Amino acid sequence: DYPYVFANPLPIPEVAKPIFTEEVNGVPIDYYEMTIENFQTQLFPDRGPTTLIGYNGTTPGPTFMVQEGRETVVRVLNNGNRTASMHLHGMSSHSAWDGWAVDEMEIGQWKDYYYGNNEGARSIWYHDHAEHHTGLDAYYGQAGVYIVYDPKEDALGLPSGKYDVPLALSDKTYQDNGELKSIEGVNLNFVGEFIQVNEMPWPYLEVEPRKYRFRIYDMSVSRPYDLYIVDEDGNWLDFQVIGSDSGLFAHPVKTNDLTISMGERYEIVVDFSGVKGQNITLGNKLSIPQIQDFENTDKVMRFVVGNDVSDSSNNGAVPSTLNPDIAFPKKKNMTKVDQTFNFQMGGDATWTINGVAFSDPNARVLARPPQGSVELWEVRHTGGPGVHPVHIHLVNLQIVSRSGGTRGLLPYETAGLKDTVLLQPGETVHVLAYYGPWNGLYMFHCHNLVHEDNEMLGAMNITRLTE
Ligand code: C2O
Ligand code: CU
Repeated sequence: DYPYVFANPLPIPEVAKPIFTEEVNGVPIDYYEMTIENFQTQLFPDRGPTTLIGYNGTTPGPTFMVQEGRETVVRVLNNGNRTASMHLHGMSSHSAWDGWAVDEMEIGQWKDYYYGNNEGARSIWYHDHAEHHTGLDAYYGQAGVYIVYDPKEDALGLPSGKYDVPLALSDKTYQDNGELKSIEGVNLNFVGEFIQVNEMPWPYLEVEPRKYRFRIYDMSVSRPYDLYIVDEDGNWLDFQVIGSDSGLFAHPVKTNDLTISMGERYEIVVDFSGVKGQNITLGNKLSIPQIQDFENTDKVMRFVVGNDVSDSSNNGAVPSTLNPDIAFPKKKNMTKVDQTFNFQMGGDATWTINGVAFSDPNARVLARPPQGSVELWEVRHTGGPGVHPVHIHLVNLQIVSRSGGTRGLLPYETAGLKDTVLLQPGETVHVLAYYGPWNGLYMFHCHNLVHEDNEMLGAMNITRLTE
């Protein structure tokens, strides 16, 4: 029982600041430093503090706000309790900086991660990716927002500055002494009793009666959401989905509910001008078997709408054309599936892809797409409790079809490119991707972090072109 639902303000993570910048051949390179470290917060007035482990002693970690065309080097020093490997989810990193699960920093070691920021504006995120304890590390705080901007997007006049807000969703369970209930040893799914946004349980945000852009992230361990926005009279508000994992859509998609699963991002524009002075609730109506509900898990956060607008810039209608140049991959024969992957539970509560566990180094390379090729992959939820959001590193996915379950494709899943796609029990999804721009060894996996840590992680070797 937690009496503070909608009682605390939404925290906004600090913006990461480069420690220095240098210019090499006309390209500015920004250098950042982050230290993985333990820290404590006081969430409960009547319980002890909560110990967390995050980047620079915060969670979510600092928000990176990066312009396309600048390069980034992040030195990560591991002063946490376990090994660490940082992944920037949604960046087309070279494999050396992609957070390969066994490329771990020991405690006391650091690593420089280099990012090219050259695929255009998008909302991506960084998190730990160490073998067998990614879920534990993300749960205790190793996750943060990374936003890439580009001039084309800036010119659209979308809500910006304080009207552009990241909402990082997660779920947690606490002990009576205020500490988190650990997820160590959990091997099926973990769904928490508390829904948190930017680490605060059920926060509120004071908003003005105007448009806002929200960048929604599902950073939970095993919990997907179906979000809706409801006013005091029980009416659902329409909103516009303007982008997802790989940036803005060609055209906005109007909806009044939004399904998001672990690893995915959606960007929405909400107009509060018609609900002056009201308390508006962001609710969660997802109910699927095996995803447990607790007393307040049907609520996410509250928007407390004021009566005055202090700044009316970037408050116009959402442009009907946002990003007309999305590079959807092209393939001649769309009936030919190049690879099929079954995501299912094996014996002893291990989770596998086509029966293979990541910790088997001889078998874990499951695909070898040639660099520059376009492949159609079939990914299937063929068993085990919970959902399998499938994430393929490096590439941008076009979601082509969904069958086998109770739902088809959602309009906002196909309006742009993505890097993660939700598989509910029984579902088969086809995804098309261009396997470039780099060659090398990359991971693909279930983003249900309990499954991932119990072996539902595979590798692909993007093989080099030879002339
Ligand atoms: Cu968000 Cu391989 O991860
Ligand atoms: Cu899974």
